[in-house]
Amino acid sequence: MRENTYKVIELVGTSNATIEEAVKNALSRAEQSVRNMRWFEIKQIRGEMEDNSVTYWQAVLKVGFDIEEAPKEKIPPKAANKERLAQPSAAKEQKVSGKYRCKVCGYIYDPEKGDPDNGVAPGTAFEDLPDDWKCPECGVNKEQFEAIK
Ligand SMILES: [Fe+2]
Repeated sequence: MRENTYKVIELVGTSNATIEEAVKNALSRAEQSVRNMRWFEIKQIRGEMEDNSVTYWQAVLKVGFDIEEAPKEKIPPKAANKERLAQPSAAKEQKVSGKYRCKVCGYIYDPEKGDPDNGVAPGTAFEDLPDDWKCPECGVNKEQFEAIK
């Protein structure tokens, strides 16, 4: 018997055609950034009407996915990061003190706040987070984060 532990994210899919399309649209979009999706549950169904007919569907889904083992490779060492930042052009592209957003669940890592619940002190730059740090909301690793302005 499987004894998997799942992480759950919430999605809202939409369609002009059917509720089923709304579900499929949400899942196929999520597939681009979430791996190992295993099941979903429809929490809410909504629609919009015009002239007494339905013109728009919305489905609120919960999607469960397997938690992955953290990959051992990649993420450049901090020394390499600092070297890159020493070059003026690279420093412009990547602000050390910037916020980062989880592409899976939308959680925003704010270096000013850190992640005290998980032992990350306020003032810790995203680049200085430990390689095994995980999104506190959905559990994905740092590679699933993108810098935001
Ligand atoms: Fe997340």
